[in-house]
Amino acid sequence: MPKAKVHVSLLRLILSRLVFSTLFIIHHSLADVGTAAKYGPPFLPTACFGRDASQFPSSNMFAAAGEAIWDNGAACGRQYQLRCISAVAPGTCTPAQTIQIKIVDRAQSTVSRPSLGGTTMVLSTTAFQAIANVSASFVNVEYQQV
Ligand SMILES: *[C@@H]1O[C@H](CO)[C@@H](O)[C@H](O)[C@H]1NC(C)=O
Repeated sequence: MPKAKVHVSLLRLILSRLVFSTLFIIHHSLADVGTAAKYGPPFLPTACFGRDASQFPSSNMFAAAGEAIWDNGAACGRQYQLRCISAVAPGTCTPAQTIQIKIVDRAQSTVSRPSLGGTTMVLSTTAFQAIANVSASFVNVEYQQV
């Protein structure tokens, strides 16, 4: 094979690898990993919507934002998709279960206390039990804003 041809195919190989790994990184950086605790009623008032209960999704799939995603209040109303990826006790996560939640409050100041402080988000009991055994105080989650 002529030298120039070898160089061209090598370059092609390197380029295709670069494109592939860049796509891989972009795809995987869409989702973040964090922790989710849970909380129960009373849910009102909230740091987002005061006493406006109409802001809660009727599915009860909602959460309070931890400081990591609170974003100075900009988190209010944002929607996240998340799934449970692991927990302290094996078998806690419901396999292959992705949920979508709406941020309605700030975890730091919810009326009822979260099952654990300092998590990325605090899920309503309804949302928590959709992805994990509800007796766990927190789980590790993969989440992505939608
Ligand atoms: C949930 O976790 C508790 C405490 O670890 C355990 O006793 C119970 O059997 C679990 N429930 C399910 C459905 O796995």
